[in-house]
Amino acid sequence: MKIAGKEYRTIWYEDDVVKIIDQTKLPHKFIIKDLKTVKDAINAIKIMEVRGAPLIGGTAAYGIVLAVKENNDPLFIKKSSEDLINSRPTAINLKWAVDRMMKKLSGISSDKILNIASIEAKIICDEDEKFCKNIGLNGLKIIEEIYNKKKDTVNILTHCNAGWLATINWGTATSPIYHAHKKGIPIHIWVDETRPRNQGANLTSHELNEEEIPNTIIADNTGGILMQRGEVDMCIVGSDRTLSNGDVCNKIGTYLKALAAHDNNVPFYVALPSSTIDWDINDAKDIPIEERNSEELSHIEGIDENNEIKKVLIYPKKSKAMNLAFDVTPAKYVTGLITEKGISEASSDALKKMFR
Ligand code: MRU
Repeated sequence: MKIAGKEYRTIWYEDDVVKIIDQTKLPHKFIIKDLKTVKDAINAIKIMEVRGAPLIGGTAAYGIVLAVKENNDPLFIKKSSEDLINSRPTAINLKWAVDRMMKKLSGISSDKILNIASIEAKIICDEDEKFCKNIGLNGLKIIEEIYNKKKDTVNILTHCNAGWLATINWGTATSPIYHAHKKGIPIHIWVDETRPRNQGANLTSHELNEEEIPNTIIADNTGGILMQRGEVDMCIVGSDRTLSNGDVCNKIGTYLKALAAHDNNVPFYVALPSSTIDWDINDAKDIPIEERNSEELSHIEGIDENNEIKKVLIYPKKSKAMNLAFDVTPAKYVTGLITEKGISEASSDALKKMFR
């Protein structure tokens, strides 16, 4: 999708280095960074220069390529794969991508391994782009249906950034939105600010602006009253890990939005590629929920009058803060899962039928 009118993907391989867009500086500064070592890839995931489940997966795949390039030794590659998996715990796409890379490389002779790794990382990223595009085409049908009944602007609420910046391209939650916009359906997006890191305000609103899609940032607690007033036609969010029973783990605050949607009969959809499905964990309590530094809550970053990014403390110095990054929305509150293969009910039977 576009930034300043130019088409980008979020990650690419060029001149023997991995290139990423540093998302910690958006929307104020557009900086392309080079990842030259596997440590660079691990660090980019940890400090969230790249974030969003599918993009973390794509970065981890290229992290394996960088590891092979750095030291073509099986022990080093194995240790690097473990460090990559441990760099962020919740999004399953990370482990999925590393496992897929390691399986592909197993038994490959050392003279061929770099070439095979590079090809597989590119396939993982190309596949994600294709899946996200299909998620959009499938989700478009829901937006079209609402528009055909309403004959007026469709208001969609989204949480966090499940946009193209969180994937390789298109996004998950935003892909149906981009497709609807391209088709000329009038849409307006309510963008949850998404404290503490403000991925909604900083990334979702920014990417929608770049594509000229009408959107309004709201404080995270505003969705409820908008739904009570009939100003939300549907919600679409992304997912970091969806269990095979349809429970959805996503950015903190998603669960409360789903409860409000349920209480107000607003359809609540989750958009995800199959790489986000965890077929192993059966109980939501077993999902590792990332707890991040409380400084993400107590401090806030913005741009000053000299165009410099500044960070300031906003809490009392003595106050403690706690920063859980994700929550789980039980399947019963999910109207449907929009996947690359179609729209599935959030249930074991439906998911198995679609994917296994
Ligand atoms: O902490 P983040 O910014 O990596 O969290 C991202 C989300 O929660 C997204 O909604 C999710 O990864 C889906 S991305 C298509």
